[in-house]
Amino acid sequence: MQFPVNQLLIKEISNFNAGSTLLVDPLYEDDFYPDDWPNTHIWSFRSQKFNANIPHYTWPQKPDSQFDNIVVYFPKSKDKLALLLNTLYELTHEDTIIYIIGENKGGIKSCAKLTHGQLKHVNKQANGKHCIMFSALFEANFQPKPLAYEEVTIKINDNAHTIASLPGVFCHGRLDEGTQLLLENIPNDVSGHIYDFACGSGVIGSYLGKYFPYKQLVLSDVDSFALQSSQKTLELNNIQATCELSDGLTKISSKFDWIFTNPPFHTGVKIDYDIAVAFFRDCRANLKPNGKLVVVANSFLKYPPLLQTHFKHVNVLAETTKFKLYICS
Ligand SMILES: C[S@@+](CC[C@H](N)C(=O)[O-])C[C@H]1O[C@@H](n2cnc3c(N)ncnc32)[C@H](O)[C@@H]1O
Repeated sequence: MQFPVNQLLIKEISNFNAGSTLLVDPLYEDDFYPDDWPNTHIWSFRSQKFNANIPHYTWPQKPDSQFDNIVVYFPKSKDKLALLLNTLYELTHEDTIIYIIGENKGGIKSCAKLTHGQLKHVNKQANGKHCIMFSALFEANFQPKPLAYEEVTIKINDNAHTIASLPGVFCHGRLDEGTQLLLENIPNDVSGHIYDFACGSGVIGSYLGKYFPYKQLVLSDVDSFALQSSQKTLELNNIQATCELSDGLTKISSKFDWIFTNPPFHTGVKIDYDIAVAFFRDCRANLKPNGKLVVVANSFLKYPPLLQTHFKHVNVLAETTKFKLYICS
């Protein structure tokens, strides 16, 4: 069952300029066949599986040619759109047509406003399936900005800790209230093999690495900008750790004494339990027999019954009016 944006793209692709096409961060799926389209490549900004026949790159790896058509899938964060345009500018020539495609409910209608100063002639090219595709050209005097990390120093109990993130990464430039609850209540006996799942800016993993003794520290996230931000945060704090770009636990094979997470629960604007459900189900296999999982979540999320399906002991370690911190073993 194809995503509506892909259905619209498939309908429109035959109207594109002849030449090469780059799909930027597409919603890739098994029944979507850009590998059948002549001279089409994919540039992804998160961990995704592709059909081996299609040339694809995952940022910071990048294509080394210019393209005649570039299709950008409208990202969830507006900051990320600006960042994507900056990043892909070097793959364009002056006649490259930029297509931006997305669902109405994701905010695509403000495309012209959001890309002001970067793109010109932003025109609606097609719509259908509750989606719109805009076409545009880069402004002639467009000057791409280099990627800039924002650094912020947070205070946890009495510890000052500096984190870095790129725009579009979760809680860019600030600390999430749930994450703060987790960091303020880390059990004293944390040590050994430690894993930060869905690490974002690397705030949890780097804090653990700085203030707790560890033998192995692993951080993972599905998003390339998040993972790169984590690497930057670790570097700033002089911490040795492994960073994996991984959708869920697909690339994680170690067994840990402790897993910490503030897991994702949104897909677009909808609450989506799927990622957390799959993670709670599968993470047991990545825990040693006495290993513990520490999860922070909005109190309204119905996590306890999900956690109790896979863990014998699920206790609340700390809470605020909005968040709960669970420890599971
Ligand atoms: C609530 S944020 C937490 C980030 C960070 N740990 C913090 O506390 O600030 C959730 C993170 O989950 C990541 N994420 C979303 N879907 C994912 C998936 N399928 N696999 C791994 N990470 C995912 C997002 O990129 C985001 O960085």
